[in-house]
Amino acid sequence: LKLANVEVSQALDEKLPALFCDRSQMQQVVMNLLLNAAQAVHNRADGMVSILTRVSSSREAIVMEIQDNGEGIPQENLPKIFDPFFTTKEEGKGVGLGLTVVYGIVADHGGEIEVHSTVGKGTLFRVTLPLLESPAGQKAGLKESAKKRHIA
Ligand SMILES: Nc1ncnc2c1ncn2[C@@H]1O[C@H](COP(=O)(O)OP(=O)(O)O)[C@@H](O)[C@H]1O
Ligand SMILES: [Mg+2]
Repeated sequence: LKLANVEVSQALDEKLPALFCDRSQMQQVVMNLLLNAAQAVHNRADGMVSILTRVSSSREAIVMEIQDNGEGIPQENLPKIFDPFFTTKEEGKGVGLGLTVVYGIVADHGGEIEVHSTVGKGTLFRVTLPLLESPAGQKAGLKESAKKRHIA
């Protein structure tokens, strides 16, 4: 990001509660979203990517937002961006699997992903991941194994 002259701002909640998740999968989520954000701002002089984490207002989930001020996503593409092999990038830059993988991992964790985008202004991806005690976390079947991990 530095080499591409992209400014990165972080607003990370230092008191974020522990989340039961697959760490390497979650790393893939973040990397894919950051790479897309970086690619979206690549030809702007004032390219900016920001990363925010917080607890949801219900306090039952954690929220991660990755936002850029890049090219944005045309309305007609929004329903397709999570589809396998959907890409608007030239060959060699993208194969259209990043968001498919992101979606799958977030769903496996009982979470949700939202996108808000304006062409020419930028894009915000918001990932919401349920915490252990929340009903959504239980539904995802995470609670028992998570509890064990917590005790250990
Ligand atoms: N932050 C973003 N800004 C603009 N467009 C995006 C962004 N993230 C994803 N997209 C759009 O969604 C498409 C699919 O993304 P992805 O699944 O990661 O595949 P790839 O990056 O390989 O093209 C991209 O080709 C692009 O059109
Ligand atoms: Mg990608």
